[in-house]
Amino acid sequence: MSNNKKTQSWAALKEHQKTLSTLHMRDAFDDNPKRFDEFHIALDGMLFDYSKHRITGETQELLMTLARSCALERYRDDMFAGEAINTSENRTVLHTALRGSAQPRLEIDGENIDSFVNQTLKRIESLSDKVRGHDKITDIISIGIGGSDIGPRMVCDALADNASGPHMHFISNVDGGPLSALLDQLKPEHTLFLIASKNFGTVETNTNAETAKAWLMDTLSEKAWPEHFIAITQNSEAAKAFGISDYNTLPMREWIGGRYSLWSAIGLPIAISFGFREFKALLSGAQAMDEHFKTAPLEKNIPVLMGMLGIWYRNFFGFTAQAILPYAQALESLPAYVQQLDMESNGKHVTRDGKMIEHATSPIVFGGQGTNAQHAFFQHLHQGTDIIPADFIAVINHEHGLDNHHTTLLANALAQAQALMQGNGDGETPHQDFPGNRPSSMIMLDQLDAYHLGMLLALYEHKAVVQGCIWDINSFDQWGVELGKKLAQNITDALETKAVLEADSSTQNLIKHISLRKE
Ligand code: F6P
Repeated sequence: MSNNKKTQSWAALKEHQKTLSTLHMRDAFDDNPKRFDEFHIALDGMLFDYSKHRITGETQELLMTLARSCALERYRDDMFAGEAINTSENRTVLHTALRGSAQPRLEIDGENIDSFVNQTLKRIESLSDKVRGHDKITDIISIGIGGSDIGPRMVCDALADNASGPHMHFISNVDGGPLSALLDQLKPEHTLFLIASKNFGTVETNTNAETAKAWLMDTLSEKAWPEHFIAITQNSEAAKAFGISDYNTLPMREWIGGRYSLWSAIGLPIAISFGFREFKALLSGAQAMDEHFKTAPLEKNIPVLMGMLGIWYRNFFGFTAQAILPYAQALESLPAYVQQLDMESNGKHVTRDGKMIEHATSPIVFGGQGTNAQHAFFQHLHQGTDIIPADFIAVINHEHGLDNHHTTLLANALAQAQALMQGNGDGETPHQDFPGNRPSSMIMLDQLDAYHLGMLLALYEHKAVVQGCIWDINSFDQWGVELGKKLAQNITDALETKAVLEADSSTQNLIKHISLRKE
């Protein structure tokens, strides 16, 4: 559809929003006992309830018209077909190929994608089997940052109850504290390091990897220490220069974006912790969500609905944030994962062809796990002056045996969503009044296993893609992180050499202050 159609559908939604600004969801539920029936989708052990949103059937229709006017289906199909939709870097976006969902027989730079994926899976299987069966290796330290850390770390946390491999530790921060504390407890001969870095040039990862190498070299022979490293990288030359053999290097490719990479060899910690079968189950769950995203009509398509609801609030109500609220301790790091996914993908200010954007893009994504967050920032969600749409994520079944705890946990998830929606009060006791009409989705999983986790993560990935399409931005680059990296290098040099840096007076004086106060 033409740009004109997009302008028209955008304008229609703007008009429609005015008519809805006075609608209270409480009344919408009272008026329509079938509201839940109309606004929920069940898919393969996942329920998506979006009835507690400030929408009517007409809103949904108008949002889908906007999606179609932005050629969302074509954009989605282009992604699966391996078109170079990462335009600023001229790259294809094929993380879905890692779970068998991209168009078959694709070739990128003369390489058949299916055979790359199959060979890599075989290597993940044999390496993870080998490490799990190794009688000397008791601890693994995965060193990586951003997408090379958050995804695998979050999955390992989420499924931790079923871990059966060596102890898995993650080091990301260049702050030496965590690594130093860990090395103090471990023994080189029993420790294996995974260096996860797509480009093998990231300063935090390289600094931590060098410290690990020095620690190993202190105790182990010249021949032995390299065997304590596995690299996962696209830059096998740099891994080799570091000392890691090709045999111990698992490949990445340009078409696997960092924050979309846990399905690749970057997910090796998952296969080591839970076994290759579980890693495959994670991929299968993601594949099921891919299939749904590819084939379900837009009106019944969970990632599309989720993405379009985000557009509705961000662009037509002006809401600035989105809360991610897992009611499962195991999903504690899910908000950080979705935060990177959304904010690094869609925190952009120019369109795909480089023009300034005239509307808002990614909201601020934050969150915390229920019920703890109820006793922290929920006050703001209920009575603050900002309205913050929320995703509640709840899991129906558990394996810990404390049924009464779980009932209370689930009851709280439902109660908070209900309270946000309905509010209460008569205006006579203003401090105690809840305005309500605060939107939320409920994503309910039958259980938190690898399969359903895979579905959930792929859902968030596709939601980000949907929103990037509507905003006409490139969701797959991250130029915004480059300037700080460059400046940090200059400042590191100045701190090390005490040379005067040409910089603003604040930066200069802060450098001076550090030098003076450093013991
Ligand atoms: O923060 C920028 C970023 O490029 C992320 O997108 C990426 O996941 C992370 O740095 C780590 O990069 P690499 O895997 O190349 O070390």
